[in-house]
Amino acid sequence: MTTFGPDFLWGSATAAYQVEGAASEGGRGPSIWDVFSRTPGKTLNGDTGDVAIDHYHRMREDVALMAELGLRAYRFSISWPRVQPGGRGPLNTTGVAFYSDLVDTLREYGITPVVTLYHWDLPAELQETGGWTDRETAYAFAEYARLMARELGDRVEMWTTLNEPWCTAFLGYASGVHAPGIADPVAALQAAHHLNLAHGLATSAIRGELGPGAKVAVTLNTHVNRPADPGNPGDVDAVRRVDAVGNRIFLDPMLRGTYPQDLIEDVAHLTDFSFVREGDTALIHQPVDVLGVNYYCTGIARAYAADSGGERETSTTHGDSAHSPWVGADDVELPPVPGPHTAMGWNIDPDGLVELLLRLDREYGVPLMVTENGAAFDDEVGGDGVVHDADRIGYLHGHIDAVRRARAAGADVRGYFVWSLFDNFEWAYGYERRFGIVRVDYDTQERTPKDSARWYAELVRTGVLPA
Ligand code: NOJ
Repeated sequence: MTTFGPDFLWGSATAAYQVEGAASEGGRGPSIWDVFSRTPGKTLNGDTGDVAIDHYHRMREDVALMAELGLRAYRFSISWPRVQPGGRGPLNTTGVAFYSDLVDTLREYGITPVVTLYHWDLPAELQETGGWTDRETAYAFAEYARLMARELGDRVEMWTTLNEPWCTAFLGYASGVHAPGIADPVAALQAAHHLNLAHGLATSAIRGELGPGAKVAVTLNTHVNRPADPGNPGDVDAVRRVDAVGNRIFLDPMLRGTYPQDLIEDVAHLTDFSFVREGDTALIHQPVDVLGVNYYCTGIARAYAADSGGERETSTTHGDSAHSPWVGADDVELPPVPGPHTAMGWNIDPDGLVELLLRLDREYGVPLMVTENGAAFDDEVGGDGVVHDADRIGYLHGHIDAVRRARAAGADVRGYFVWSLFDNFEWAYGYERRFGIVRVDYDTQERTPKDSARWYAELVRTGVLPA
């Protein structure tokens, strides 16, 4: 039996493109995910977010369901092209009204809104000039952030600039399994820098609009990789390399104001980093109130010898592609990780979350929040119409206990958000992977809480993790 305390923020999360639908309604402009998902072959079954779970039209009943489950906080994202269709210029008042209503409805029920400004749906028009490879995108993002702070800042306490910029940069521009579907390692590094810049500029813009006390966070999918053989220096170095381009490429400029020297050396054959201009690292390095951590699984890294004769093994954790997202780590292999696995093929490893939280606390000394954690399983609807997802409950239990362990060991972890509240559009995997604690019937749009939702509601109510 354990108590998390009354201030611990229990919530659940979604993202605009994954749930809203209404892709051409209310003056919304197209995003790069509309373009990408409508391109044949890019998503499983050709699924798109055109309708998704129709949250745009069902927002009030969805918030009522959150209240019924007793959630204290709801992490959602604003669709940039819904509020500023081309990514620049005047706001679309219909789009802003949707989020304003959402925030008001949440507050009526006493649910804390936690807003993410960028969860991958860049206005398509900004892609025409290069998207995140264009430095100007960072400035456009900061202006959009300022406008949202102006519109909603009287009612939103917690702002998150970016969600998982690693995915944007490296799945979007290196492996190409996400929008905009580009496979160019140098473009990916450039995108990573401009995302860092966007975070720093937006953080300043929000505080400029709302005052220095405004709370700003960023959410990263910090990877945990372990050496295949801890006694093999090549494998240990493989872990260092993927840590540099997977984690420290964002953590260090954002939280320390420098790019890691080893990263610069690892990618020196690709770029001289001249896209980093004088003064950029100071702009990026803004105080953050909370570092959001999205955690699902762990990885294994080992040195890969091209002449070993064996077939190279590559983990499928980040989608199938001929191109690796691990830029500059060509001599690294990420073999499949032993199970148990979720329906994504991701291994279940709560110890990794303890390690990660303790590491971030130790090395960066910043308050932490688990902004995503959860699992897709092959849910079956029981005869009673309910999904009895003991597997998902087991996953959540193990990871929430990991948060407890990290806190007991001294990490300042302030909240936990289940991914996801609802089954939804799982990017390149379309609707076939279900992460929700609430089942969505995609034919009728009916929402039915799974056993995991009831289990989580009880945990939130009591703050006590059952043994
Ligand atoms: C990370 C992303 O932020 C979210 O959009 C995605 O659905 C989950 N992980 C699961 O893959």
